[in-house]
Amino acid sequence: MRLILIGFGNVGQGLAQILHDKAEDLKNRHGFEAQIVGVATGSRGIIAHHAGLAIPDLLDAISTDNFDHYPYSDGLRRYDDAVQMIRETQADVLVEASPTNLNTAQPALAHIEAALATGKHIVTANKGPIARDLPHLRQLAQAKQLQIRFEATVMAGTPSIATGIELLAGCTIKEARGILNGTTNYILTQMENGLSYQAALQQAQELGYAETDPTADVEGWDAAAKVLILLAGVFGKQAQVSDLAVTGITGITQADIENAKQAGERYKLIASATPHGGSVQPVRLPLSNPLAHVGGATNAITFATDLMGDITLIGAGAGKLETGSALLADLLAIHRLRPV
Ligand SMILES: NC(=O)c1ccc[n+]([C@@H]2O[C@H](COP(=O)([O-])OP(=O)(O)OC[C@H]3O[C@@H](n4cnc5c(N)ncnc54)[C@H](OP(=O)(O)O)[C@@H]3O)[C@@H](O)[C@H]2O)c1
Repeated sequence: MRLILIGFGNVGQGLAQILHDKAEDLKNRHGFEAQIVGVATGSRGIIAHHAGLAIPDLLDAISTDNFDHYPYSDGLRRYDDAVQMIRETQADVLVEASPTNLNTAQPALAHIEAALATGKHIVTANKGPIARDLPHLRQLAQAKQLQIRFEATVMAGTPSIATGIELLAGCTIKEARGILNGTTNYILTQMENGLSYQAALQQAQELGYAETDPTADVEGWDAAAKVLILLAGVFGKQAQVSDLAVTGITGITQADIENAKQAGERYKLIASATPHGGSVQPVRLPLSNPLAHVGGATNAITFATDLMGDITLIGAGAGKLETGSALLADLLAIHRLRPV
């Protein structure tokens, strides 16, 4: 399987590392062999080689500084424009792992459209194009019998998307509700342990969970993007952020947390998607609810179904290898459907 990687930061490098470390196992167990034929970054170079790029050399070059340090060989091409590289490089799958933009979905949307136009399947960690434009992208993909997969966009490699769309396909899902943002769950957990909101936020930043500007997390927008993805992916319902009721955790005080504790309850930022719409709200959960026991930066999702009752998945929601694992699962799903 020839791959183009757009974005070679945490997630892109995580996938490359896994493909390298597990190459033999993937070949033996799945008959799967991957070759990276193009890689794009924002500021550190864009390179392609039809015969494949060496993963150790890619990782070395990026850790040194940029792809100028990638060893030259005949056939190596350097580009200034990722879309041009995508159009001109023959590949089976485009892996999108450039930064998410929830307003415009760009530049990922242009990357994905160029890849579909030139016959490439899509696997994306980037939330923007899926939250905003899944029906449009599915139409483009279906017209060319291509797949668009996005497991990594919700809960990293914890298989929320495959469970909701594929594994529970025979059930009617009444609601998907969960803790879909690790930063806010970490802050709420630490507030319950006695820290103030500010001290908990600072700790989350020091640990690398929260960005320097934590607005997207603490105001609920990151979780809202995941609700849009669940609405589109699981319920086939196209919505916009303005259709959702979104409240973050900035209004929650230690007194609120303490009151909930006294009542045997816990505050969680609950993201919910149903066939009728979605929301992100702080909710007081009784301790009998499995989501109440999910602490720290861990994520969880409960699918409420007709045939199976409630099914809850608990696991990592971010991380280099954890997100790389989701991308690999999607690549293997595409591999399984290819003619032998
Ligand atoms: N990290 C996680 O745990 C996680 C989990 C789930 C989903 N995601 C999603 O996965 C994506 C990647 O996350 P990350 O943590 O790997 O981010 P990151 O470490 O900041 O890496 C982003 C990469 O994208 C490159 N890039 C920036 N602008 C670009 C452009 N215009 N065209 C092509 N490449 C561009 C960057 O290049 P430069 O270094 O040159 O700027 C860098 O290589 C994001 O959409 C994120 O929301 C991340």
